[in-house]
Amino acid sequence: MIKNDLLLKALNGDPCDRPPVWMMRQAGRYLPEFMKLKKKYDFFTRCQTPELATKITLMPIKELNPDAAIIFSDILVVLQAMGIKVEMKNNFGPYIPEPIKTKKQIEKIIVPNIEESLGYVLEAIKLTKKELNSSIPLIGFAGAPWTLFCYAVQGSGSKNFNVAKEFIFKNPEISHKFLQKITNTTIEYLKSKINSGADVIQIFDSWGGVLSQKDYYLFSWNYIKQIIDSIKDSTHAIIFAKGCWYAIKEMSLSGASGIGLDWTCSAKYAKSQSNNNITFQGNYDPARLLSPIPKIKDDVKKMIKEFGTKNYIVNLGHGILPNIPVSHAKAFIESVKEFNT
Ligand code: CP3
Repeated sequence: MIKNDLLLKALNGDPCDRPPVWMMRQAGRYLPEFMKLKKKYDFFTRCQTPELATKITLMPIKELNPDAAIIFSDILVVLQAMGIKVEMKNNFGPYIPEPIKTKKQIEKIIVPNIEESLGYVLEAIKLTKKELNSSIPLIGFAGAPWTLFCYAVQGSGSKNFNVAKEFIFKNPEISHKFLQKITNTTIEYLKSKINSGADVIQIFDSWGGVLSQKDYYLFSWNYIKQIIDSIKDSTHAIIFAKGCWYAIKEMSLSGASGIGLDWTCSAKYAKSQSNNNITFQGNYDPARLLSPIPKIKDDVKKMIKEFGTKNYIVNLGHGILPNIPVSHAKAFIESVKEFNT
């Protein structure tokens, strides 16, 4: 039994006195303790060393006391496991030295054995669960196949992923083959994460919004749906697809327990699409955390009133930004805990 199981209650649709709260990308970036560790170890060393990953996962828990932990890792480790080289460059972000450009490359990509290639993530989950000692739930995660495809083909981050889009429109057939390989890997990966102790799974489709609605269903949702189908009976799944407010209805019928919303979607609109059968998560504009603390507190209370205390998880509308003062992040979490109707 988990002592503070507010997150699980919210995902079950059970009544809560106040909603649970956690923040996307809470482990890292803006935390001074994390920045110190960053000077000593490169990014993937931090991901690949279970003791370090556990330590980083627990940093925001000690500092901010949210209602859930999210395992420190990255969505891109799945591409590495599939045989694609990925580097993390300082002040640049992800860099793929040999981006996927040809049918031959796609044929060579493997669907790996998860224990062998990503065992370090599973170890980090087991160690973190031990350290958390049933205090709060642990969230495991994966990138949506489309978002991983974007990095693998584009070769780096991008505002519009034009190279990845050009590729799917010129080579739809082999694109689908690649997306299916990512999907198959992700399903096995998430099953292993659940078996290792992850209490909730979140799918990050950070770049779903670069596609048209029609193309989103074809190149992204189609694959997310397969993932949800394979894990929905053994865990609570949350789908976060930035910019994809139009797909709320399909998402709420998929068997997932939660939908993460970005800040451009209103509570009223989200609710109108879902028949109250799903839990929403979000959606404070991360840049709004730069507002004065009293304003943050006031905004959060208003946001809870709009979404309600049932079927709701307070979060940001995307990851926390590196320039957010820790005191402001703390105020965001505290204001949820202070909430009473
Ligand atoms: O939520 C958490 O705190 C857990 C850890 C986590 C990281 N990445 C650590 C990280 C999670 C859940 C992610 C997911 C992730 N990674 C996404 C989906 C969520 C989103 O923000 O849209 C994406 C698109 C990535 C790919 C990625 N990783 C990028 C674009 C970058 C560079 C920009 C940046 O700083 O985020 C990363 C690096 C990364 N992943 C860092 C951290 C803490 C910062 C770099 C570092 O620590 O050296």
